[in-house]
Order: sequence, then structure tokens, then C-alpha cells
Amino acid sequence: MYSSLRILLYTTLTVLPVLVSGQLNDLAQRRGKLYFGTETETWEFNDTTYLSHLNNVREFGALVPGNSMKWEVIQPGRYEWNFTLADQIVDLAEHNGQHMRCHNLVWHEQLPGWLVNGTWGKENLTAVMIDHVVREVTHYKGKCYAWDVVNEVLNDDPNNGTLRSDMWLDIIGPEYIAIAFEHAARADPHAKLYYNEYDIEFKGPKHDGAMKVVKMIQDAGVRIDGIGFESHFTPSTAPGLQEQMDCMKDFTDLGLELAVTELDVRILLPDSPEELEQQETVYVDTVEACMNTEKCVGMTVWDFWDQNSWIGPLTWDLYYNGYGEADLYFANWTRKPAYTGIESALKHRPSHW
Ligand code: XIL
Repeated sequence: MYSSLRILLYTTLTVLPVLVSGQLNDLAQRRGKLYFGTETETWEFNDTTYLSHLNNVREFGALVPGNSMKWEVIQPGRYEWNFTLADQIVDLAEHNGQHMRCHNLVWHEQLPGWLVNGTWGKENLTAVMIDHVVREVTHYKGKCYAWDVVNEVLNDDPNNGTLRSDMWLDIIGPEYIAIAFEHAARADPHAKLYYNEYDIEFKGPKHDGAMKVVKMIQDAGVRIDGIGFESHFTPSTAPGLQEQMDCMKDFTDLGLELAVTELDVRILLPDSPEELEQQETVYVDTVEACMNTEKCVGMTVWDFWDQNSWIGPLTWDLYYNGYGEADLYFANWTRKPAYTGIESALKHRPSHW
């Protein structure tokens, strides 16, 4: 009896506080932000340590599903809808009192076979896109703080800056973007509607192209509320604090709010103390850019545990060969310098506004 009590006490007093002591969301909220959030997926719920971090609202004030709201999952057949996985994430966020970032509605990747291999004309593809947008947004009506309505509509090359040639552009034309926003707005008048993009966090043709996309939507008389800066960085190529702030200002000057939506900082493996320090600088610069930008509402990391990151040896045949350790916690749950760097920046460094 005595020993089991002792074990219970020991667990409660020492292990649990360590597991749930993170407070990045608390700190960000105290500094006026809406959330510090994370990407997640239901398969990750099986790890109890992971789940205890995820459920800690002092640590993460917003969740975004990595895959389960994407087209191939939600609408795997023309007349088949599957909200099961995404519902679990939305329910968890609701239960924990966390915001939801909902991601995404129209993208060129992770589309189901029936859509990619179908024979489409402008009219019927537009109808299919509207149907998808309206059904998915309606299903989560009132539950999403924000929707990434369109995702990565520009060409990959940061020196290009023109719209990506994909089934949406090629068959419907550039107006597919405003049409998607128009119908998302109708389906949930209160969700913030975002355009989410990468490589626009530094100056150049792609950044300028994204501003043109925003203006195109606005010129069509359609509501767009926000721009998502994905912020998948690597120390050797990441923009510095001032450049990130300048880029944020370009979009907030267009009347938008802004969010850092998919922050991670991959490094070349094996790691070294220097690389981990450079990684810390990039994480901290990005958080500070948001803190210094009044209309940056929050930051989301694209998961927080190296073991489950989408970047690492297990996915080298798919993405970023040679890179890994992009998240805030090492696989053994030790906090990275990047974690403590963000924590102390949020605690101690004054923002400029
Ligand atoms: C990634 C997921 O994390 C992976 O699990 C999946 O295999 C591919 O997509 N930009 C985005 C996200 O907008 O949806 C992507 O997520 C990462 C890049």
C-alpha cells in the first residue's frame, strides 16, 4: 500500500509535470497572440507521451490535421465522404479548448484517383470543386477558426511567381481561386479564409506573385481574410528576422491577417551543436517576426516531435533527402535549443509594437 502510494505520488509529482509543463501557447497568448499551435494526425494519438503534450492547452492552443482534411481522405470517391479521422482531431481540440486550423480545400496534391484520372471540362470540374468546398466547410461549420481555402497555387520555383499549371488552372482557369473563396465564405461566414503558400517568407518573384493572387481575389469582390506563411525552413536558406517582418508587412498592408502555418526547421544529418544553434536562431526569428507583426495572429509548428516528423530518414525517398530533426523535441523527448530559445524569447524579449 505504502509503496504503491509512493509510486503514485512520485509519478504525479515528478513525471507528469515534466510531460505537461510546456507553456508555449500560454506565453504567446500572454503576448497578445491567439495561439501557438501544432500539426497533428490521429495515428500519433497512440503514443501516450505525445498525446499528453498534444492535450496540454498551455503548450498548444491550436491543432491542424496534417493530412486528414485533404481531398483524398475526405472525398475518396465521387459520392463518398469520410470525415472520421478529421472529426477525431476536431473533437479533441473542442474537448481541450483549442482552436482548429483547417487544412486544406483546394490543392494540387493528395487528390483522389477518380478526380485526377477523370475527364473534365470547365463546367463540371468547377461544379465538383464547389461541391467539395461547400460540403467540407459545411461539415465543420463553426468549428474552424481558419480554413486554408487554397494551398500552394504558385509554381514551386521561388524565381517564377506565376500560377502553377495543375488541373484547376488548366481546366477552370485562374478564377478557380476566387470561386473557391466565394463558396467557402458562403458555407461558413465566420471562418477566416486563408491562402496558404511557401517560399513567400522572403522577397522575390514568388512573394510578389502571392501578393498578386491576393489582389486578384480582392478585385473579384470576394472575401479573403488571411495569408499563411508555411515557413518550412532550413538554416542555410531561411530569411532573417527583418526580411520575414518586411514580407509579413507586405501582406498585412493588403488588409490581411497573417499566420505562420507550418513552421519547421530541418537540418542536415547527423546534427551538430552548431546546426542546432542555427536552427534555434531560425525558429526564434520566425516567432519574433510574428510577435512583432500585430496582425500575425499565431504560429503553428508542423508537429513537435522528431520521431513523427514528415521530414527524416524514413521519408528521404519522398522529401528532403539527408535532412531531419526539424521539430522542437528530439526523438527521446529532450527539448531542443530551439524550444528553450522560443520559450525565453516569448518570456523576455520585448516585441516592437
Ligand atoms: C505534408 C504532410 O505532413 C505529409 O504527411 C504528407 O505526406 C505530405 O504533406 N505543405 C503543406 C502540407 O501545405 O499539407 C504538407 O503536409 C507539407 C507541405
